[in-house]
Amino acid sequence: MTAIQPADPAAPSVPPKMMTSLRVDDDSIHVVNQLLLPHEIQWDACESVEDAYDAIKSMRIRGAPAIASLAALTISLLLSQRLKSPTADLIPATSASAYSLSPLSTSSALSEWVNSVVDHLQSSRPTAVNLSEAMNRIRSALKAYTGDSAEELAKQLIETCQAVHANDLERNKQMSKLGADWLFERRAKDGKKKLKVMTVCNTGSLATSGYGTALGVITNLFETGRLERAYYTQSTPYHQGSRLTSLELSTLGIPSCMICDTMVGSLFQHQDIDAVIVGADRVVKNGDTANKIGTYQAAALAKLHGIPFMVIAPVTTLDMNISHGKDIHIEQRPPIEATLARGVVVSPPSDLTTPSDNSTASTRPPQAVVQITPNAIGKGDNLIYNPSFDVTPAKLITCVVTEVGVAENAGDKDEIDLSKVL
Ligand code: MRU
Repeated sequence: MTAIQPADPAAPSVPPKMMTSLRVDDDSIHVVNQLLLPHEIQWDACESVEDAYDAIKSMRIRGAPAIASLAALTISLLLSQRLKSPTADLIPATSASAYSLSPLSTSSALSEWVNSVVDHLQSSRPTAVNLSEAMNRIRSALKAYTGDSAEELAKQLIETCQAVHANDLERNKQMSKLGADWLFERRAKDGKKKLKVMTVCNTGSLATSGYGTALGVITNLFETGRLERAYYTQSTPYHQGSRLTSLELSTLGIPSCMICDTMVGSLFQHQDIDAVIVGADRVVKNGDTANKIGTYQAAALAKLHGIPFMVIAPVTTLDMNISHGKDIHIEQRPPIEATLARGVVVSPPSDLTTPSDNSTASTRPPQAVVQITPNAIGKGDNLIYNPSFDVTPAKLITCVVTEVGVAENAGDKDEIDLSKVL
């Protein structure tokens, strides 16, 4: 890793050291390819609905708020281009798009285009509710428009789309402070001055418009001198922890410790962990929470060890239309993804006892995707189970924190009252 990425210019208050997943200006959107991080920084242009869909589906961008931002900003970009060139052929003949936007004629023709695009983008990843919430906001703006000017409608839609991205950073900072203060207040009663916390997956600025949710709480604890160390799971098979959270924590100078997903129980037995802090892809009405695979087992172990388990998520992640976690649609990833690992080549390793320092571009070894299973795995009767998320029941959750407040699960109930954090 040689360079720290400058913050997103569209979000000027992102602290300069924080990574960002999106670069947005009036004429373009670029997505940092998270499949290549942490070893290579490659910014891919997102120029069409298909580009956005592919980036989300392939997880070149991931994290519930970030994928919602990309989908909304792509629609905004295409509408802005059309407003600037009302009649021009915007799509080069070589890259015909099934979702190219015709010259603006009537508001009903524009509505038809927007409806088909939001349906398509929403289908890219089903579990994170933020994406459907953002697409629903656009649908509501369409329904609310009563005029007949395609230009005027396009302008209103652009505002709606841009708000999806712009609102995210500020609310992350709010929930991060609320969560950090809530936890510290409780642990300080036991005489704790600096906390050890554990997280799962990546919930930082790469997964959001900046600062992060669970990682935002950890960042706040660090910035206010209240963090001893952040432990994080590798979060296989995509390795959001070992590839992305590792990068964010080390870039920010936050003391950290990576553990394999299999080591959570051991960590709780041998370290005095003050809390497990995770993000969410969907929190439903009773408080059941879908998050990265591995979250449920961390919550069960936390309960066994009496460790508070905190869910940090924006209001846009709360889904009051689903009553129970069992009804959440869990995305199954392609089985092959669980058979592969990505990284730089260190073989034949000269010394496997010290991590390699791939520090300069000229000496950096090539990236590779390697298969870690026998060829027969994933074929015939050799199955692979690869859900992207699991559901943690509300009774294992100590509190849900949003930008609005903290909903506590007093008495380990089966349900958390989310009404005051909506
Ligand atoms: O599959 P991913 O990497 O998109 O999953 C991400 C998570 O599960 C995060 O915890 C969640 O989206 C919250 S990100 C602020």
